[in-house]
Amino acid sequence: MPSERATQTTPFAAMDVLERASERDGVVHMEVGEPDFRPPAAATEAAVAALRAGDDDYASSRGIQSLRDAISDYYDDTYGVDVPAERIIVTPGSSPALLLAMLATVDPGEDVVLTDPHYACYPNFVRQADGNVVTAPLDPEDGFEPNVEAFADVVDDDTAAMLLNSPANPTGAVTSGDKLEALVELGADTDTTILSDEVYHGLAFDAEEHSVLEYTDDAFVLDGVSKRYGMTGWRLGWAVCPPEYVDAVNRMTQNVFICAAPFVQAGAEAAIREGTDWLADVREEYRERRDLLVDAAERWGFDVGYTPEGAYYLLLDVSDLPGDAFDVADVFLEDAGVAMTPGPDFGSGAEDYLRASFATSTEDVREAIERIDALLAEATTT
Ligand SMILES: Cc1ncc(COP(=O)(O)O)c(C=O)c1O
Repeated sequence: MPSERATQTTPFAAMDVLERASERDGVVHMEVGEPDFRPPAAATEAAVAALRAGDDDYASSRGIQSLRDAISDYYDDTYGVDVPAERIIVTPGSSPALLLAMLATVDPGEDVVLTDPHYACYPNFVRQADGNVVTAPLDPEDGFEPNVEAFADVVDDDTAAMLLNSPANPTGAVTSGDKLEALVELGADTDTTILSDEVYHGLAFDAEEHSVLEYTDDAFVLDGVSKRYGMTGWRLGWAVCPPEYVDAVNRMTQNVFICAAPFVQAGAEAAIREGTDWLADVREEYRERRDLLVDAAERWGFDVGYTPEGAYYLLLDVSDLPGDAFDVADVFLEDAGVAMTPGPDFGSGAEDYLRASFATSTEDVREAIERIDALLAEATTT
């Protein structure tokens, strides 16, 4: 009999949609956040060279020193903050880093505050630590930026952690420095640890990105190469830990994951050190797709009244169409061959929406727009 924890772990609807969509030919996939770009060439070359050189034994559980130095330099170069390599633990993806941070922070029965909407998997991470999910609503009129008062309303002595995410999935919202600083203050006043998921950093179009590390050392940052460098299948991430948590997180890493693959770490280091120009080009292409979709959403009347400032997602308000978000997603898939994720997967605050991912090619984004144009034109004439 599976445990209560296992039974309560919900599926990830985007993957369910992907499974269904993959059974059909010619579908434009906008349901998953899977970048269509090949990684920076330097990353592939470095990983292949490391593999050929026999770099395939267990590595240090904390991560290879030269990669941790590259990550430390990245924080200095990008945000002007000093993050000693000793505080960085390399993991097989940012998801394991988040799991470790959650397990290191939350005791059974304690609350963890998430925004609503949030990344669909977050509640399941809280469940693995036997914590309780508490939500702070986001408002489209604020561009889905976190509302500090909404956090203050739900944070109390039972709160172990607040989980922040900027640029955010599923909204694309970027949290301003002032708001981050206010949330850090709230965390300090209430002894609540901040877990900051910064996996979409590097993918902000208009807004300035801030790391929580600019305002405190007393927070976890979870990050990785999946989204920024199009390296989702490499499984490489890291946790920057508050000083007093480093050894605890390392002990859990030693036992549970042992280490991230060393040749993958060599590739990640090359991406971080040499991928800046690659990233600048990719970001411009995402911006172009974002603009195409935002224009189309306005034309369709699905406009949510905000423009995503980062990541590669847009929420479409489909509340004026017949049926709920699941029905609309079905119609888009069945009648237009366009796969999108129903909003409820991301919390009750996204009930009226579909999430469109523009991590797919620009050509595909144009094709999806044409197909939905045709679908809606047909619906109004019949
Ligand atoms: C907000 C957010 N955090 C973390 C992840 C997982 O990233 P990784 O591939 O580094 O585990 C995702 C993947 O979609 C995400 O959207």
